[in-house]
Amino acid sequence: MSPATETADASARLLVRDLAQLATPSGREAPLRGDALGQVELIEDAFILCEGGVIASTGRMRDLQPLSGDVVELDGRGLSAIPGLVDCHTHACFGGDRVEEFALRASGASYEELHAAGRGILATVTATRAAGEQGLLEAVRQHRDWMLRWGTTTFEAKSGYGLDRDTELASLRAIAAAGAIPTWLGAHAVPPEFEDAEGYLDFALTEVLPDAAKLAEAADVFLERGAFDVNQARRFLESCRAADLALRLHGDQFTEQGAVPLAIELGARSVDHLEATGDDGIRALSASSVVAVLLPASALFLDRPMPQARKLVDSGAPVALATDFNPGSAFCESLALVCSLACTQLHLSPEEALAACTVNAAHVLDRAGTVGRLASGYDADLALLDAPDWRYLAYHLGGDVVKTVIRKGEVVKGH
Ligand code: NIG
Ligand code: FE
Repeated sequence: MSPATETADASARLLVRDLAQLATPSGREAPLRGDALGQVELIEDAFILCEGGVIASTGRMRDLQPLSGDVVELDGRGLSAIPGLVDCHTHACFGGDRVEEFALRASGASYEELHAAGRGILATVTATRAAGEQGLLEAVRQHRDWMLRWGTTTFEAKSGYGLDRDTELASLRAIAAAGAIPTWLGAHAVPPEFEDAEGYLDFALTEVLPDAAKLAEAADVFLERGAFDVNQARRFLESCRAADLALRLHGDQFTEQGAVPLAIELGARSVDHLEATGDDGIRALSASSVVAVLLPASALFLDRPMPQARKLVDSGAPVALATDFNPGSAFCESLALVCSLACTQLHLSPEEALAACTVNAAHVLDRAGTVGRLASGYDADLALLDAPDWRYLAYHLGGDVVKTVIRKGEVVKGH
């Protein structure tokens, strides 16, 4: 994530030794569903050998072969290792903050009311337009460093607070320059200079999409009452698909407006939020390959009902977890806290939570072959927890549990 990692010495070797535990989702498949979501492989008294930025081998200390040549050793005594976490849904590129709005909500105003009154997303649009590309780059870097402290080594970030051509493209460039995976959230809200959603989409699809498609990997839409309806979302996503972007949707956050059937119809990578999804939506997702991305920090922050995670997992739907980090509905960069919420509010096991923010999140970002597991051939992205049991990740609520973070074989935090 830091520029230094991009110049990592291809031959450098790092041995993390004497780990109390190594925990990783097992197998090589993605996405994981049903019982497989909870299958974590545990190695006690473990080592991880990294070479040239990838994992060369893992195993028990007693099986470690003597190593010749230069090897940097890192003492893992009393620590447990998990894969570097993968945050597949953030809005990390924005100017300003919404602390005033937060205080208003604390005294009773609702998020939807504030949005309708021109605060909410549109307040951040004003601040983001004023930030300039350099300001946005600094913001994404700062947010990346916050995430890194909690063990996140790969993250997606959306545009969507510019909503004009220059600021949307500047946002996507800033996101990529900070080492994140860019998603064009071209249909987040209708900005004030347009009278209606159709007029804004005419502009976005003709003036912004051709260049956004060169910078982003995916497109996203906020399909909700007061934002874009199902027909507008279909129009937006079909155009984006034709421009070779993968598709994502914000759906069923407050009300069911057809996001799940649309995501399935269009073969989207994911449909995210799902706090309002009922049994029909759960059934449909269980029979599809669209990943249900759950964002419990957002539900908590807005005091909304939690999504029906247990039902989704038990029905066999592929489920991922993410922070939704943004200034309005989830000012939270910690996937560790999200794992705590997953266990306490969504009733997932620590094993299911781990797989949901590693392997399945990597799958949403089309990177499940390279990140999300501690196994040979995967990127050497590791979080070392200051605990002899890896489940402290979720158990220590809000705790400063991540001691060391390694990305592509380089220590980027701690030790
Ligand atoms: O995922 N719901 C739409 N978008 C964001 C929130 C954006 C904001 O409040 O600034 C979300 O919650
Ligand atoms: Fe979001």
